[in-house]
Amino acid sequence: MREKDIRYLEKFYQKNKKGRLEALIQSGFLDEEKAAAFNDDLALAPEIADSMIENQLATYQLPFGLALNFLVDDVAYVVPMAVEEPSVLAAASSAAKLFAAHGGFQTAVTPRTMIGQVILTEIPDCQKAIAVLEDEEIEIIQTANQAHPSIVKRGGGADAIGVRHIEADVASGSPEFLILHLYIETLEAMGANIINTMMEAIIPLVEELSGGKALMGILSNYATECLATATCRIPADALAKGNWSGEEVRDRIILASQAATVDPYRAVTHNKGIMNGIDAVVLATGNDWRAIEAGAHAYAARSGQYRSLSKWTKGDNGDLVGELTLPLPIGTVGGSISFHPGAKMAHELMGHPDAETLESIIVSAGLAQNFSAMRALVTEGIQRGHMGLHSRSLAISAGAIGEEIAIVSEQLKQVKNMNLATAQEILEKHRNSRTL
Ligand code: MEV
Repeated sequence: MREKDIRYLEKFYQKNKKGRLEALIQSGFLDEEKAAAFNDDLALAPEIADSMIENQLATYQLPFGLALNFLVDDVAYVVPMAVEEPSVLAAASSAAKLFAAHGGFQTAVTPRTMIGQVILTEIPDCQKAIAVLEDEEIEIIQTANQAHPSIVKRGGGADAIGVRHIEADVASGSPEFLILHLYIETLEAMGANIINTMMEAIIPLVEELSGGKALMGILSNYATECLATATCRIPADALAKGNWSGEEVRDRIILASQAATVDPYRAVTHNKGIMNGIDAVVLATGNDWRAIEAGAHAYAARSGQYRSLSKWTKGDNGDLVGELTLPLPIGTVGGSISFHPGAKMAHELMGHPDAETLESIIVSAGLAQNFSAMRALVTEGIQRGHMGLHSRSLAISAGAIGEEIAIVSEQLKQVKNMNLATAQEILEKHRNSRTL
């Protein structure tokens, strides 16, 4: 059996930036030369920002940090996250550490096949069109691949088609559609540009073959052929919290999972917690988080009802067992990944995982995040943990600067109703006491 590569980073949060970088270098997650990029705060150069979007005025910053102690398929990772919400990194790190002591996360990914669509209307004879399109599969694939030969040279490209007939819908007034799917291996790329180029290139051929009119050619962000799954398990004893026994916590987490399976109102919040972890890594690694969000929620509704993306059950031996599956069409090349200093650093900190491994890390981060939220929710509630960090945000919002932030935040934690007005009062009192 492969030896597990557990590398805990202790008391990381208590160190300053220099100490944190030193700890990363000592534990082998970062080399000294690469760490120098942090001197510029991973800032995006103005000329790059200006060429990335139209009408650019400034760069909009977010904190970039690490969720620690992840063991994914027996390999240790620090997981970079870009996020504005307090508690996300702490929650992911504490769950990862707990699971690392019990084997960490195991993952499985499907082959990374992406889907492009040509939507056809006004088809004279749908059954005939389906037969012709299916007969001409090779020509369609060749036409697509000729439009993007470089992906074919690298071993990828289009390799299959599928045709879906959607009947007219009287209630919505929608006519019938024929939808051609092209299945494309985009290798290390998420592949939006590759797919869209191919889809537009096959439109004339597909129109000719079907006799219909193409409405559009575009990728589908519902990447059902690019799924990632993480599983984890932990003995009930390890789950005890406060006055709650391990068995009680396990059973309450399982109940919470069941509630999120049957109630869409709870499922959305439950999945939002999962996406707290997923989006933060997707964003940090320079990937398209809107695509991942859209696909994840469609996948959550695949049964016809919106449900939880994760499932927590009791194993045969009484362990708590967790599982999360979602579409994760991320990439390790393309887009801003090669030039955005934050994205480059994110890949560096994880040792430049390939796209399948990055999917594994991201889905594990989602499951860790979900576990921490559920464990807190079914025991002491989330506010206690949240308020610790929230007090710092309130102190900053109240105008605290420098060492005032810690002073106001500490005093805020002692009051019953933590809010902005109280933070302002505390700050004012503190400043007055210093001018006396
Ligand atoms: C907060 O950002 C996320 C949670 O609401 C998730 C959940 O309820 O499971 C705590």
